[in-house]
Amino acid sequence: MKLTDAQKAKVEDLLSRMTLEEKIGQMNLESPSIVGGFDVPFEELIEMMTDGRISKDEFENIMSSATRDFHEDDIRAGRVGSMMIDDPKKNNELQKIALEESRLEIPLIIGFDVIHGFRSVYPIAIAEAGAFDRDLFEKTAHMAAVEARAHGINWTFAPMIDIARDSRWGRVSEGPGEDPYLASCFARAKIRGLQNDTESPENYVAACLKHYVAYGACESGRDYNTTSMSVSQLHNVYLPTFKAAVEEGAATAMASFNDLNGVPCTVNPYTLRTVLKDLYGLPGFVVSDANGIKECVTHGIAEDDADAGRQAVNAGLDMDMGTHIYKDHLTELVESGKVTMDVIDDAVRRILSTKMWLGLFDNPYVTEETMKQYEGANLPEGHAELTLEAAEKSIVLLKNENQILPLKRSQKINVVGALAENAKEVCGAWSMNWNEENCVSILDGLKKEVEDVTYYPCCGPEGEMNEEELAKAASDCDVVVAVVGELVSMSGEASSKANIELPGMQKEMLKKLIASGKPVVTVLMNGRPLALGWEAENLPVIVESWHLGIKMGTAVAAVLLGDISPSGKLASSFPSVSGQCPIYYNHPKTGRPGSKSKFTSRYLDAPFEALYPFGYGLSYTTFTYDNLKVREAEEELTVTVDVRNAGAVAGTETVQLYMQDVTASLVRPVKELKDFTKLDLDVGETKTATLTLKKKDMGFYDNDGKYLLEDGLFRIYVGGNSRDCLCEEAGVTF
Ligand code: BGC
Repeated sequence: MKLTDAQKAKVEDLLSRMTLEEKIGQMNLESPSIVGGFDVPFEELIEMMTDGRISKDEFENIMSSATRDFHEDDIRAGRVGSMMIDDPKKNNELQKIALEESRLEIPLIIGFDVIHGFRSVYPIAIAEAGAFDRDLFEKTAHMAAVEARAHGINWTFAPMIDIARDSRWGRVSEGPGEDPYLASCFARAKIRGLQNDTESPENYVAACLKHYVAYGACESGRDYNTTSMSVSQLHNVYLPTFKAAVEEGAATAMASFNDLNGVPCTVNPYTLRTVLKDLYGLPGFVVSDANGIKECVTHGIAEDDADAGRQAVNAGLDMDMGTHIYKDHLTELVESGKVTMDVIDDAVRRILSTKMWLGLFDNPYVTEETMKQYEGANLPEGHAELTLEAAEKSIVLLKNENQILPLKRSQKINVVGALAENAKEVCGAWSMNWNEENCVSILDGLKKEVEDVTYYPCCGPEGEMNEEELAKAASDCDVVVAVVGELVSMSGEASSKANIELPGMQKEMLKKLIASGKPVVTVLMNGRPLALGWEAENLPVIVESWHLGIKMGTAVAAVLLGDISPSGKLASSFPSVSGQCPIYYNHPKTGRPGSKSKFTSRYLDAPFEALYPFGYGLSYTTFTYDNLKVREAEEELTVTVDVRNAGAVAGTETVQLYMQDVTASLVRPVKELKDFTKLDLDVGETKTATLTLKKKDMGFYDNDGKYLLEDGLFRIYVGGNSRDCLCEEAGVTF
């Protein structure tokens, strides 16, 4: 976020001319308030939708006709610095008021949740991370930036880079999985894609790293729950994605809802000021999560709203999302000396600098011409293709017994499961702006390619099973494709689950389909790793297809029919049963590693290992690994391995490099991912993969937050997943 000297001077000039009220205005983020148009209070309306008194569609209908207050008067008076809104025409109107009618003519920064695409929705992050493809991560983020900017949004509440190891937490869907290295690569690429194309203001937005920090470690996977951990774990596992993203230039961040070791992250001076701003050097500002400041009173860490505001601003939280606490209390807090002007100036300088960097003073509006590109179901050239590429690369083949896949176009296919036909269900959590005409369901994807497809909904994630339909579905066909999983509403925010097996009657349905003797291909649509113990044992074929975005059906059909060989890997381990959560491959070494013997770290009634581990994913071919070599140079280890395509079709393999620090002054993980590369291999072809392990990355943080590099023995592992690897040992000195 580089500013020219002239831009810096303009920021300082504005700052010197602002009243305290105008400064505080910059620190206030507003959303359009719903002020009426229906008979019951808004809160009750939400409850009515949650408890099923009205459907989601009915709720949305009511909302679309509700009366809203866009805070025009406050904008005019300089009391609003930011708006959360996604309508380009309205954005233009509000910007115009800010720029032409407010005293200092400061534009609004317009923020919105553009998490995995805006109009061209691509796979949810947990799926996309499994593509292990840095270029892809960057390209999709750039596409999202362009589409957001075309709708007047110049600040996106993304990337979500929370490490998550407990799939009961619904928000695992929004982030890049359990591993700090893969997630950091993802974070860096997302920042490049969102922010780096600064030639034209139409091509970049400010990123907002969230949720800072350790939100994914919420106890028992229950959303908003407490988190507690050692300093070393915080620095080794939960902070690296944020550190990497700030190194890459990320402009802003969002404080998370959770408390960390007793201090809510909204008012946490250690995480916000000491680490994020002073140590990492975040150039822009920090916003609270929605209602976050007020919740500090409920946390019991602040006496009242004013006290919460005081703690938040002093801790380094620059912008208030949605509570009006800054707007209502900061003046008095400054006047009483509880908050200094320096703290306010620092916050406002950060906000103005971000606006300046975004070019909002010169290019605040969306043009008619830009809006036209998105009229109806229109998308700019190449966007649909990129979402398709991302979807194809994110599909993970978990099991393919008897090579039932790929299917043939000449087969008679019965498609089963209510999720198969619902085009609305393909986009996943936090996607709001797709046009249904652009969404391809799995059923539509298959029908487009195969002549003989018959559809039987039978049952979905909720509700009863239609036995009559099921009987028909299991007869008169060559193969059954069963599409099962979770509704989009079952993952994402406030969607934690204690039981993460397939919900509803779907398992019953699968049992009956198998009993019929027909070959069954199970395609999963879900936002979290599911507990698939029964499925892995009893189903011949399992394809994990997540929520892949608007082109989901086209991508799934291409994989099922063998037009492409699946190449996605898991960014998060899958358990056999829910009770294994949290489960992740890179856990610290115990004194009694799990094994068959009783007094080891194991369960009596479930496996101790993941069912499908991090990095796992099959293809229509097989790859063999051979000739692992580790060469040490002054600054890095170079690791090479020969990978051969030993099967009958071409394929792409993700070669993964892990290390283990054998003896250290703190207990270290059994394995840690350190690099990966992708190889395209023709039938019979062998290629040498070269991976790099930088010595500076072989250390760890201790409990004082100090980074240590300790000489000694390391195990270097290379393989196609985190479990099945070749291994070499190397003594390393730093
Ligand atoms: C979520 C954030 C989101 C914000 C604004 C909150 O409830 O936790 O991820 O960015 O709302 O929509």
